[in-house]
Amino acid sequence: MTSSRRADWLVPTALIALTLIPMAGGAMRLTDLAGGEVTPENARFFAAPAPVVLHIVGAVLYCLGGAFQFAPGFRRRHRAGHRVLGRVLVPAGLLMALTGLWMTLFYPYPEGDGDLLAAFRLVTGSATVLALVLGVRAILRRDVVRHRAWMIRAYAIAQGAGTQALVTIAWVVLVGPATGLTRTLLLGLGWLINIAVAEWLIGEPARGRRTLYRARRAERTA
Ligand code: HEM
Repeated sequence: MTSSRRADWLVPTALIALTLIPMAGGAMRLTDLAGGEVTPENARFFAAPAPVVLHIVGAVLYCLGGAFQFAPGFRRRHRAGHRVLGRVLVPAGLLMALTGLWMTLFYPYPEGDGDLLAAFRLVTGSATVLALVLGVRAILRRDVVRHRAWMIRAYAIAQGAGTQALVTIAWVVLVGPATGLTRTLLLGLGWLINIAVAEWLIGEPARGRRTLYRARRAERTA
């Protein structure tokens, strides 16, 4: 493999790694639902299993498959592949976000969760749906710049699940238990970090073009 091909796979590999912890959580929840006992902690999932099952399937598919859309070389070499994968990923992402919204509205809060976390989930779930819809609309109008921006935003919010796991683990190791409001704020921080990275990435091509323009102008005037 050439070094540029290796570099191409660096970002997707990191994104897949970021999905591993929430994916493990999803596998544990599905195993529990398939044969575990009903307890106060999991009663809401047993009472209405379909949303959480669809949520986990949609989220894992979206986060894993979405990682491949971030390999620029792969996108250039396999344009048709990018489109086919996109047609699978948009419904998967919508399923993830809509079931996330449904659970926020209709599952009883587990102990320690409250209105603030529900508000965060309503905002991020709705923002994901909106970003996916605007991303599709942009590409139907052949507006690649806007398509890229909205798809990065939608994916970044979804990958909030992975960043939240890392932030929470770091907090537990360095500071102590993460429950109640602390947990809620850490989850919010996970989303914020990803949104900040997404906005930085979205602005990157324009910054690169500006730097190139300035360098050329300096060359001409030198
Ligand atoms: C738009 C982003 C998302 C929103 C708004 C959202 C929302 C939710 C909500 C409301 C629940 C139920 C929580 C509870 O009652 O305890 C939940 C559960 C879950 N979500 Fe998400 N989610 C999102 C993205 C993701 C992603 C990307 C993954 C994984 C890759 C994921 C994996 C899970 C898992 C595994 C559960 C079950 C938790 C458990 O077993 O206690 N979610 N999600």
